[in-house]
Amino acid sequence: MALFSYFCPMNTQFFVDYLKHRLTAKSRHGTHSPFVYKLADEVIYDFAATQDYQTIEKQRKKLLNDDRFITVTDLGAGSHLNKNNRKQVKTIARNALKKPSLAQLLYRLSRYSQPKTLIELGTCLGITTSYFSKACPGAEITTIEGCPQTAAVAQENLNALGCGNVQLLTGNFDHIFPELVKTTPRLDFVYIDGNHRKDATIAYFETCLPKVYEGTMLVFDDIYWSAGMKEAWEQIKSHPDVTVTVDLFWIGLVFFKKGQAKEHFRLKV
Ligand SMILES: C[S@@+](CC[C@H](N)C(=O)[O-])C[C@H]1O[C@@H](n2cnc3c(N)ncnc32)[C@H](O)[C@@H]1O
Repeated sequence: MALFSYFCPMNTQFFVDYLKHRLTAKSRHGTHSPFVYKLADEVIYDFAATQDYQTIEKQRKKLLNDDRFITVTDLGAGSHLNKNNRKQVKTIARNALKKPSLAQLLYRLSRYSQPKTLIELGTCLGITTSYFSKACPGAEITTIEGCPQTAAVAQENLNALGCGNVQLLTGNFDHIFPELVKTTPRLDFVYIDGNHRKDATIAYFETCLPKVYEGTMLVFDDIYWSAGMKEAWEQIKSHPDVTVTVDLFWIGLVFFKKGQAKEHFRLKV
């Protein structure tokens, strides 16, 4: 979601939450956990650009100039607001995609995690998917998108960027994700960026639980997007299997490391 829509006057609570986060979150130096310090130092605060960033951002520019209209089928939390479902690709690119700095953070997180399998809920036009594909060329990547016409544009982008390790499934997360998890031996990296409803978010988290292990990283997007999402995030943090969480405001990271005292970190990004 674009920064503007987060900070529009309708969303004062979000702005207050953002300020609170900025005031209370730490940098890498405020964290005493060696695991989280390393993650912050080597991944979160690694701002060096790569060739992959440039290649994908060139593709984003094309989307930002794409005048085509498509029919959007919205299965997510905004579905009740969607009166006019004909949209230009460039409008979707402007409003629905992760901004470059966050997409690049996801790139580094997934690269660090070295997943064999990576699942993304919420492909949209395929920008974060492309980042995952380039960060983890050896991984089997599955991304799910509910809107067929959006998925078709995403597939064009994935083809243009040569993301051959991505399987794009079109349909509702609620049906596809549980089936996918059943056939995946264990979950290495899962990114949840769609259908930001409390119950749905908790359901996706619970779907993951039978297949999580020491090496799993779950990433939840938009954890401050609404009161419901904040409640979902608190509920996820308090689950007994969760040991470490890292709240980066825009996204929340969840780990299941054994032998680690349960602890929740907030870091500035
Ligand atoms: C915020 S966008 C994803 C943005 C993308 N990850 C990026 O930054 O490049 C969320 C997407 O999830 C899809 N979505 C929302 N709820 C869904 C559901 N229940 N099943 C399938 N797709 C859904 C929407 O159609 C939308 O394209």
